[in-house]
Amino acid sequence: MDQPADNKLTIEGIALGRRLFYDKILSGNQTQSCASCHKQELAFTDGLRFSTGIDNIAGNRNSMSLVNLGYNRDLFWNGRAKTLEKQALEPVPNPIEMHLSWPDAVARLQADGSYPGLFKKAFGTETIDSILVAKALSQFMRTIVSGNSKFHKYLRNEVQFTQAEINGYLLFRNELKGDCQHCHELGSKLLTDNHFLDITQRFHNNGLDSIYPTYLGLAEVTQDPNDNGKFKSPTLINIALTAPYMHDGRFNTLQEVIEHYDHGVKVSPTLDFFMTKNYPDLQAGDRRELGLTPQEKADLLAFLLTLTDSTVITNPAFSSPF
Ligand code: HEC
Ligand code: HEC
Repeated sequence: MDQPADNKLTIEGIALGRRLFYDKILSGNQTQSCASCHKQELAFTDGLRFSTGIDNIAGNRNSMSLVNLGYNRDLFWNGRAKTLEKQALEPVPNPIEMHLSWPDAVARLQADGSYPGLFKKAFGTETIDSILVAKALSQFMRTIVSGNSKFHKYLRNEVQFTQAEINGYLLFRNELKGDCQHCHELGSKLLTDNHFLDITQRFHNNGLDSIYPTYLGLAEVTQDPNDNGKFKSPTLINIALTAPYMHDGRFNTLQEVIEHYDHGVKVSPTLDFFMTKNYPDLQAGDRRELGLTPQEKADLLAFLLTLTDSTVITNPAFSSPF
């Protein structure tokens, strides 16, 4: 994992970041921490369709899992932050999240009995600022690495797959059927393509909508209509724990997701090439029909269930220090 030259992991920095991640001091009315929307037992998601901030205002995006983010090149569904250090500056002042200005947050930490000493240990100074808070949070998040699912163990020859899991794995890789691995890439074992250098390989329109009324995805960042409806490919590690699914949480179950890919993919100008490459005759407004059998759908689900890494949700190093 690459670490920024000015924010290498240290024991003290990670410990401080973990504490800040779980501390409600960083929200306006002290009712919410990062962990309110990123719960360890749900692989750091919140189980809600739309996350709700301290003022009970729901946003329009589904909370994201935080595993293996140190390998990612873009953060957020639309990729508007390129480093964890930049990302971590957003939730505190965000009016529909923790809703506390940075000057107020820093003043609270500075007046606290323990934080100045903890910043001194981590960064050599008792003078706290938002940049150091973001650095500590980023160090903690970089430690949340997940590679111990049944799938990972299978690749390491530590466990056997059932026949259904093998069939599902093959479907996931089969270019004529699921072809899931084009975006939920397997080689890196990260189940996302967000580590690739080429940005066109990191954002995709997977056919949820034929028009994009509210939330444009990558186009919000690039201002390019060719990027309408393109989103970061989320990792599928721990996918059984992170319902509901997609940027707007529109699907409640993995079965619904599989039905989407089977016959719900809507053709539109920015639909990903890999969604239609075997279907040259599809027109705008059409839906792709993959034609998976009930058995194939069950096998695909069996494979997706092998992606749960229970060590992430039980590791005490990632839990609340309070
Ligand atoms: C009110 C709920 C809420 C709170 C509080 C919250 N988050 Fe999030 N988080 C979200 C949502 C929703 C998204 C997706 C937002 C988007 O894409 O616009 C997200 C996205 C992220 C991502 C991007 C993950 C990825 O795969 O790109 C990171 C990292 C993250 N949050 C870390 C944090 C940290 C650190 C804190 C505390 C400082 C925090 N979050 C507080 C709801 C929340
Ligand atoms: C062309 C790239 C691409 C292909 C191929 C693809 N996906 Fe996706 N997948 C995405 C993107 C992008 C998203 C997020 C879309 C959004 O939220 O708007 C996503 C989301 C998902 C989610 C929800 C993840 C979450 O955290 O909410 C699941 C589950 C999923 N895909 C499974 C699959 C399966 C199974 C296949 C094969 C049948 C597949 N995908 C094929 C790009 C792809």
